[in-house]
Parts: sequence; C-alpha cells; structure tokens
Amino acid sequence: PKIYLITPTHTRPEQKADLTRLSYTLRHVPNIHWIVIEDSPSKTVLVKKFLAGCKLSYTHLNVATPENYKLKESDPNWLKPRGVLQRNAGIDWIQKQPQTKGVVYFADDDNTYDLQVFEEMRFTVKVSVWPVGLVGYLWYESPVIKNGKVSGWYTYWKPNRKFAMDMAGFAVNLRLFKENPSAVFHMKAGRGNLESDLLTQLGVTMDDLEPKASGCTKVLVWHTRTEKSSLKNEDKMLKLYGYNSDKTIEV
Ligand code: UGA
Ligand code: MN
Repeated sequence: PKIYLITPTHTRPEQKADLTRLSYTLRHVPNIHWIVIEDSPSKTVLVKKFLAGCKLSYTHLNVATPENYKLKESDPNWLKPRGVLQRNAGIDWIQKQPQTKGVVYFADDDNTYDLQVFEEMRFTVKVSVWPVGLVGYLWYESPVIKNGKVSGWYTYWKPNRKFAMDMAGFAVNLRLFKENPSAVFHMKAGRGNLESDLLTQLGVTMDDLEPKASGCTKVLVWHTRTEKSSLKNEDKMLKLYGYNSDKTIEV
C-alpha cells in the first residue's frame, strides 16, 4: 500500500533546512506520496522550487491559518494548535482521490523519522501505533501494551485522554477516512487533544489499535524541534559595515 504523508509547513528561517532533511529521508521510502500544505495565503516561491527539485511524488497545497488562531510571540506554545487547517486540507485532498487503498500519516516537518517507521505503518489495518521519542518532556511517550493490545498510555500529560498520542505516533488506513468523510481536526479540540478527537471521529476503539515497533518497545520517530536561529547580527552588520546578507540568496 501507498503511504500518504501529510506535512503542514510554515515560513520561517529554518524552513528550507527542515524540508531538505525530511525530503532526504523520504527519498529512501518506496511508494510514498508527499502532501505538503503551506500555512500561507498563497504558495511561496521557496516551497514551489523546493518541491519541484525534491525528486518525490508530491502535491503542493496551501491554506492560511486565520490571525486569531495564530500563536503570538508572547503566547505559551501549548495555547493554540498548529497545522490544523493544513492537515485538513491534506485530508480533503485525499478524500477527493479515487484511491481506497493506502495509509495516512501526519508527519510534521521538523521531526526525525527512522526509515523503519514507514514499513511498520505500511500494512495498517485500521490504526497503527508506536512510541515517540523526546516528547511530552519525557524520554518518550508510548502506548502501554498488555497481552499484545493497547491498554493505556505512558504519558505525563493527561494519560486519561482516550488516545493520548502525539501526531507522530500513529497512522491510519485511508479507508477509515473514506468511511468517515466528515472526520477532520478541530481547532477547538485544543493542543494535545487533536489526535484523540480525530481518532474518535474515525470510529476507532482501543481494540482496533495495532501496536508496532516490536510491541511498542522501539523508538522509530523523534519529536525533535529545530532551534530558532537568531538573526540579530543582521541589523548590527548593517550599522557597523554598511551592508548585510544578500536577500537574493535563498536560505
Ligand atoms: C506539537 C505536535 O507534535 C504537533 O503535531 C502539533 O500540531 C503541535 O504541537 C501543536 O502545537 O498543535 P510542535 O513541535 O510543538 O508539535 O509544533 P510545530 O512543529 O511547530 O508545528 C507542527 C506542524 O505545523 C509543523 O509541521 C509546522 O511546520 C506546522 N505549522 C506550525 C504551521 O503549519 N503553522 C504554524 O503557524 C506553525
Ligand atoms: Mn515540531
């Protein structure tokens, strides 16, 4: 089965670096289609050019997050969920495809993926699950396995959520989306509840969950976050030397 990878992305100094790294991982994955959705009112030249040269099968979409849903610089980063409308645009694109076979995975652009995670998810019957490294202020978060089935969640934050998983910790058979055409991520579900809310709409039960990665004992994806690059010397450069970085050089 083909893997449909849904990746929201937004303009920032590190965007091209993150997308480059992710695309080099995906080049090693057979039978994958990359759906990249920009959080932007129009498609940017940077992402357009990047995708044109990425040597992957891809679809380029865009939708802007309205201003009132955007995090402000002063907001704590858990206040508002990110990438919601972008992932929904990806789901909408998939809904419009004739394909009924495939696996859907929501892959943020800054995480780190072991190639094995794609093979673990490829034969998902309903929903595959596995641990995620370096997330939730822990070494990892993980489904708790009892007798080969998911019995609960190893997480510090709200372990009583129905499906207490990070976005990177599960993949869904495309058929479930076709059978539940109204299932989308809800802004108001709030950060940390997006995943649980979506799986509930897809009619998933605990019994449906398929533990992967050797019974959820292996970390094959890491919730890495790229450090924000300071560009504070650009202004100082201009003041002291009268010139700074060439804006025609794409970074
Ligand atoms: C955590 C979770 O792992 C994400 O799945 C969840 O969407 C996110 O929290 C959240 O706040 O809702 P985190 O590393 O904190 O992830 O978030 P980011 O990596 O900054 O953003 C998640 C995705 O959304 C990325 O692919 C990013 O490029 C995209 N994004 C981010 C946008 O499309 N627009 C934005 O304004 C910010
Ligand atoms: Mn991230």
